[in-house]
Amino acid sequence: MASTVGSAAESLSKLHINGDWASSSPNLLNNLSLLSPHQIEMAKMLLEMGQSHLFEHWPEPGIEDDEKRAFFDQVAKLDASYPGGLVSYIKTARKLLADSKAGRNPFDGFTPSVPSGESLTFGNDNFVQFEETGIREMKNAAFVLVAGGLGERLGYNGIKVALPQESSSETCFLQHFIESILASQEASCKLVEGGCQRQIPFVIMTSDDTHARTLELLESNDYFGMTPTQVKLLKQEKVACLADNDGRLAVDPKNKYIIQTKPHGHGDVHSLLYSSGLLNIWRDAGMRWVLFFQDTNGLLFKAIPASLGVSATKQYHVNSLAVPRKAKEAIGGIAKLTHADGRTMVINVEYNQLDPLLRATVNPDGDVNCETGYSPFPGNINQLILELGPYIEELTKTGGAIEEFVNPKYTDATKSSFKSSTRLECMMQDYPKTLPPTARVGFTVMDIWLAYAPVKNNPEDAAKVPKGNPYHSATSGEMAIYRANSLILKKAGVKVEDPVLQVFNGQEVEVWSRVTWKPKWGLTFTDVKNKVSGSCSISQKSTLVINGRNIFLEDLSLDGALVINSIEEAEVKVGGSVQNKGWILENVDYKDTSVPEEVRTRGFRINRVEQLEKTYNEPRKFCLKP
Ligand code: UTP
Repeated sequence: MASTVGSAAESLSKLHINGDWASSSPNLLNNLSLLSPHQIEMAKMLLEMGQSHLFEHWPEPGIEDDEKRAFFDQVAKLDASYPGGLVSYIKTARKLLADSKAGRNPFDGFTPSVPSGESLTFGNDNFVQFEETGIREMKNAAFVLVAGGLGERLGYNGIKVALPQESSSETCFLQHFIESILASQEASCKLVEGGCQRQIPFVIMTSDDTHARTLELLESNDYFGMTPTQVKLLKQEKVACLADNDGRLAVDPKNKYIIQTKPHGHGDVHSLLYSSGLLNIWRDAGMRWVLFFQDTNGLLFKAIPASLGVSATKQYHVNSLAVPRKAKEAIGGIAKLTHADGRTMVINVEYNQLDPLLRATVNPDGDVNCETGYSPFPGNINQLILELGPYIEELTKTGGAIEEFVNPKYTDATKSSFKSSTRLECMMQDYPKTLPPTARVGFTVMDIWLAYAPVKNNPEDAAKVPKGNPYHSATSGEMAIYRANSLILKKAGVKVEDPVLQVFNGQEVEVWSRVTWKPKWGLTFTDVKNKVSGSCSISQKSTLVINGRNIFLEDLSLDGALVINSIEEAEVKVGGSVQNKGWILENVDYKDTSVPEEVRTRGFRINRVEQLEKTYNEPRKFCLKP
């Protein structure tokens, strides 16, 4: 202790020799004797960076000393977790805040054009071939789920990945993701002559808001079948909030010794992966791809095999998954931007920036549909496939830092103060911004019904979405899974009755037959085709839950609910006519707090009136023909 005080005094006198640095904050000056040399350095840095307001209300030594030390612990943490430390953070903030105040467009000087990419049609030969290639490559891939977001728009009290992606099988998002990765691993390894034991690494980026509950969800479910060492959680840290245009750090309104913090955005995933050392481990193990995805898109894995096939075939360093986008639709567009000075990048341009950019450059009409009825700029769904080698090369240069932005909500048109504190943010999809022109950056467009149905909005906000636009709610997310599975079965030759329109929580949705299957049953379209034969039909009121791998639908006529469970080694043929009262969707109001939150957010509960449920636990062939 004595040595700390001694060395603190030494540092203090050294610092005084260099100037009267603490004079702008007499309160801090009074308290310097409490601080370690490192804390004094931090204090000096803060004053030099115009942060004397942080000490404005500090009392004299002897009062709340522990809180003062804790304040510096937080400062040290904020400083250490940001590349270049707080100095760099505050400098960048000042620059971006000045740009924002001046209304400067980050894309000034750039001209947009349509980049090259691959447009896929589900189920045709091309698609099937890409899926085959994708499955072959899957054993060389690592998956990264960004799951640190607050989910403020959804307003769910738990973590988003714990929500059921659909309520017929009650599989939660995380379970579905893990089972999809495991099914991909197995399918890919099977194609290797002599077999292969590779485990696909799975990284989950968490934050203080989600970390403990994500770990708890994994641990209480035996990692949903994954080897625990296969899963790595990387926790992102928050960044300091900014109170004004001068980049002054915001103090927590309830505690003057705490700097307010907020999430920095999913762009953190790149620096975290880089600093974790995992990328080099993967490269040394012969991996070739890193796939990034978000927390609540239950359709994504239907799009992954073909998209990875596109990456491998076209040798894309960066492949952004995309869906057709109506002009002006509120979803970012993927565009190639060419600067007057020759720089180019293929990047997501937010929809509110794309239209003015087009008007100012190539098209006075702005963002308009082309002859296909869609904007020529495909809609970014924020799922990226990166080739590992070039990714490591780039991160070695940047350390994983992603260009940031700031989005202050000003109190008035003078833009001189904020409604609430803001902070710097960064987005995962901005990674290609720093890539050299030689980088192969492309995209893969797929039908929206196959690839994209995230759960982001709470029922009240979803109900206000203008007609024709996606709700992106728990209701639409679940219905999208039934629709996709029904459409895939239809394409495979099953007669699936047309959907009916129903309203849940004020949202009108198409209700298709409730068909769900385990990823290992039908990872690709070829898998599904191989599992159905003869003349199969499913009525609209039906539910079909397939819980097993070797389950074959042969001349099945379903009008009711059918649940088939089987172990890996069983082979089950399911045919004949299954008829019962089935499972009925009953409306639930989102305001009805007597029902569980997961149920009321989707606006319906399943009343399991009657079903045929069969379980096959022995390793042999079975035939179900009621
Ligand atoms: P969203 O746009 O859905 O944001 O993030 P969000 O923060 O989860 O939800 P809102 O905006 O508060 O309603 C897209 C993906 O990025 C992750 C989310 O978990 C989601 O998978 N994310 C977002 C992070 O991992 N970290 C962040 O700081 C922000």
